[in-house]
This record gives sequence, C-alpha cells and structure tokens, in this order.
Amino acid sequence: MILVTGGAGYIGSHLVMALLEKGEDVIIFDSLELGHIETVETLKKYGNLKFIKGNLKNLDDIRGVFMSNKNIEAVVHFAAYSQVAESVKNPQKYYYNNVYGTLNLLNAMLEFGVKRIVFSSTAATYGEPVYTPIDEQHSQNPINPYGMSKLFIERIMDDYDKAYGLKSVRLRYFNVAGADSKSRIGEWHDPETHLIPNVLKATKDKTFKMYGTDYDTKDGTCIRDYINVEDLAEAHIKALEYLQNGGDTNFFNLGTKSGNSVKEVFAICETVKGTDIPLELCPRREGDPAVLVADNTKAQNVLNWAPKNNLEYSIKTAFEWEKVFN
Ligand SMILES: NC(=O)c1ccc[n+]([C@@H]2O[C@H](COP(=O)([O-])OP(=O)(O)OC[C@H]3O[C@@H](n4cnc5c(N)ncnc54)[C@H](O)[C@@H]3O)[C@@H](O)[C@H]2O)c1
Repeated sequence: MILVTGGAGYIGSHLVMALLEKGEDVIIFDSLELGHIETVETLKKYGNLKFIKGNLKNLDDIRGVFMSNKNIEAVVHFAAYSQVAESVKNPQKYYYNNVYGTLNLLNAMLEFGVKRIVFSSTAATYGEPVYTPIDEQHSQNPINPYGMSKLFIERIMDDYDKAYGLKSVRLRYFNVAGADSKSRIGEWHDPETHLIPNVLKATKDKTFKMYGTDYDTKDGTCIRDYINVEDLAEAHIKALEYLQNGGDTNFFNLGTKSGNSVKEVFAICETVKGTDIPLELCPRREGDPAVLVADNTKAQNVLNWAPKNNLEYSIKTAFEWEKVFN
C-alpha cells in the first residue's frame, strides 16, 4: 500500500490515478485546504483507495494513519504550499507547513518503520540559473522561501538517511502542465498561478497578462520547460520501483530538456482553443529568470524514464479539462 500525501491536489491526484490503474492500493492523506473532495470521489471509481482527511502540521493526524495502516510500504509526499509570491510575503506559513509538516511525516515514518519516500521538490531549489540546461550538479541557491523550504527538506532527508537509513528520492519538477488524458481529473488551483490554465481561462473581462517581453531570449519572453503531468506521474512510479529495488537516496530533475517561450505557449493555446485570446503586455515581474530548462539525462539513465507527451498535448488535455470543469 502506498501513502500519498497531498493526493487530492493537482499532481498527486494524477499519480494516484496511475497507481490505481496499475492495481496498487492507495491511501490519500490530505487536509483538503487546497485539494478537492470531488477529485477523491472520482479517483475512488478506479481502484482501492482510502481517503484520510488530516493535516501534517498535527503529528497525531499522520501518526494515526500509520497506526491504523500497518501495510504502508512507501510514501509519496506532495502535500505543501507552493506559491512563490505568497511565500515571499508570508515565509512563516511556508516554513511551518512545508518543513515542520514534513518533519512530522518523517518522524511518523521512522516510528512505524517505513523507510522509503518520494518527495516533490522543485526547480526553485536551484535559484537563478548559472548555466542552462540545469543538471542536478547545479548549485542550489533558492531565491524565495518556497524554494528554500524545499531545499531544507532535501537536506533533512540526507541527514535522516545517514542517521536512520530513511531512503528518499527527490524529484525536482520544472513546469508541470496538462491533465488526465480522459479528462477525469485536471489542474484545479484557486487562485491559479500557472501559465497554461490562466491563458486558457482568459476572457475580455479578465485578459491574460504577459509579464516581460524584453528578456534576452528568442522572442523576448521567458522560456520554461513544460513537463506533462502524466509523464510526471510515471516518473514517480519509476522512483518507487527504484527504492523498492534497494536504490539509494537520490535526486532527479523532471523536465523535457527543451524550453518554450511564453509567446509560444500563448500561440499554441490560441490554436487549441480556436479563438484569439485577450492579451495584455505587462512589465517584468521580479524574480523570474529568463530561462529555466532541465537536463533530464540522470532520470533517463538511472530511472529509465523519459517524457512521452509534448507541450501541444499538454495544452490540449488542459483545454479538454477546462471544458469539463467549467
Ligand atoms: N505544480 C507545479 O508546477 C509544481 C512544480 C514544482 C513542484 N511542485 C510541488 O508539487 C507538489 C504538488 O503540487 P500541486 O500543484 O499538485 O499542488 P496542489 O496545491 O494542487 O496540491 C497540494 C495538496 O497538498 C495538500 N496539503 C497542503 N498542505 C498540507 C498539509 N499540511 N497537510 C495535508 N495536506 C496538505 C493540499 O490540500 C493539496 O491537496 C507540491 O509539493 C509542490 O511544491 C509543483
């Protein structure tokens, strides 16, 4: 049985769907602060899924999960806050939830003898790129409390391995995109801060704001590496297998090795939607690097994982999900 924290949220729910479709038994632990019970109800149709509502900030909530489920083999840990701008304004909220919450989880795992965890880390742990594409050897100097909270957790996981033998795989995602191929689940954030859903949702009254058109890139807009959410789910399954096969603590970038500009994403969204999308050009936002692209060679070599779906596909599935959702 696999425990998925944050499994009622965007990425976690796509992993849960993939695990259930493989016949795995799954427990979702989620506070539902940002996740959705409707997502859990949909997932329940596809296999043996137990849902436990609780908050990682309460040690007893997560201890209770292990106490009443003695057959948990491994944990996949998505539960976190992840809005960069909010983390700058309110770092306390981020360190408390992300770092303290993870400590409670790790301590409960140790108490009940569960020694394998796959963790949602982020490209934000690298900070301003020194070179690109970014490989795993790139320095980690986060430029906001969100990225810092994730880096602290990575470091804590190293120490917990050395001292207690707790094995972790940290997956550093770049920009996650798309939805379930059958539109059963998808991205559902409120407020939405991600590019693709915001472009697709734009209306005459709520135009899409493109921040920064004077970067040193091919068309002046920022370049990001968009990784499809179902490909990402597959990488988690490979990471679980890696740990089950005795793999040591490790960390991998999850991206495609190629980037797309904001203008390119916008153009594909217009094609997929078949309409012009209302657009407003705005000045740069602080803290947005010009280019963020992953070198994914290590994940390809060690996990035997490679992304299969391109950006067009991610945008199409995101659009199909928006139609179901609205
Ligand atoms: N979406 C991206 O592009 C992206 C990129 C890099 C990393 N990540 C990381 O991936 C993970 C999942 O991201 P997402 O976009 O699916 O986020 P999400 O907000 O959709 O999902 C997070 C889930 O965790 C739950 N949660 C948060 N704090 C909790 C707590 N203390 N106890 C119990 N449940 C709690 C929320 O209710 C929510 O269901 C996060 O850790 C995020 O930092 C996401």
